[in-house]
Amino acid sequence: MAGTFALFAGTANAALAAAVARDLAVGLSDCAVERFPDGELTVRLLEPVRGKEVFLLQPTGPPVNDHLIELLAFADACRRAAAARITAVVPYFGYARADRRGGRREPITASLVADLLQAAGVQHVVTVDLHTPQAEGFFHCPVDSLTAVSTLCAALRDWPARDAVVVAPDAGRVPMATRYAQRLGTDLAVLHKRRLSGTETVVTHLVGDVRDRRCLLVDDIVATGGTIATSAATLREARARPELVVVATHGLLLPGARDRLGRAGVQEVVVTDTVAVPERDWPALRVVSVAPLLAAALRRFLADESLSDLY
Ligand code: R5P
Repeated sequence: MAGTFALFAGTANAALAAAVARDLAVGLSDCAVERFPDGELTVRLLEPVRGKEVFLLQPTGPPVNDHLIELLAFADACRRAAAARITAVVPYFGYARADRRGGRREPITASLVADLLQAAGVQHVVTVDLHTPQAEGFFHCPVDSLTAVSTLCAALRDWPARDAVVVAPDAGRVPMATRYAQRLGTDLAVLHKRRLSGTETVVTHLVGDVRDRRCLLVDDIVATGGTIATSAATLREARARPELVVVATHGLLLPGARDRLGRAGVQEVVVTDTVAVPERDWPALRVVSVAPLLAAALRRFLADESLSDLY
């Protein structure tokens, strides 16, 4: 299999790339990324890609712009070196939240990123739990948006679902939370969140019954932890039980998030490794790998088999 395709990893998440390569029983393709003192970077492919199926594995998590430019440079290098097809495997898609104009005279940066990737030569995208499914529409090429819900539900198999409720922290997360609730066999509650700024949110409504129940707060991204902290306060006021667990696909866990979640009374945080998780030695944090999911997708992709049960 290794001769027919090349799997390059950017620098954003070396551990995940190594795990995917291990699962596929192939080596990562040889390349180098060099950063210059002025902040520019270049990449070099140290093996031929002419006529090959090429996968570029690079989540565009923090620092988002650096990782994005690196991915674009990889794609451009592959296109100029006559790769047959270039697939960007972007487990976390930075800027996905910028999927509409917040007001007049604002950009839709998710759409801009889609244009940039395609202009650089990307012909197919594989991603995980895209913030909004309709962001696929920013691409003209195929997008396979996989989901980590099954992976995360498997990690929650010992979580006591009896007397529990899955909580969506905002309307956008209702479809994802519904999948968790169905799989775990619980009820669903929904909060209505309003974002005041990049770090501040308020909850205005709670729909559903959380009183005396254990809550599992579900989100796609935990960045500053602000959404979770505000949601946790609302659940406490509504007399939910204190054993609060948070599950999210993308654990960006920016500086301050750990303290914020701790102060909010979160007992356990379960995330995947779509981005390299910055927190270590945090007993409340559990990281489960999406490497088997990505490897399964690439395997099927190479065999022209359907990926639909990975969505
Ligand atoms: C927002 O719509 C997302 O689904 C997440 O709730 C949000 O991005 C989390 O960010 P933070 O942790 O900074 O509140």
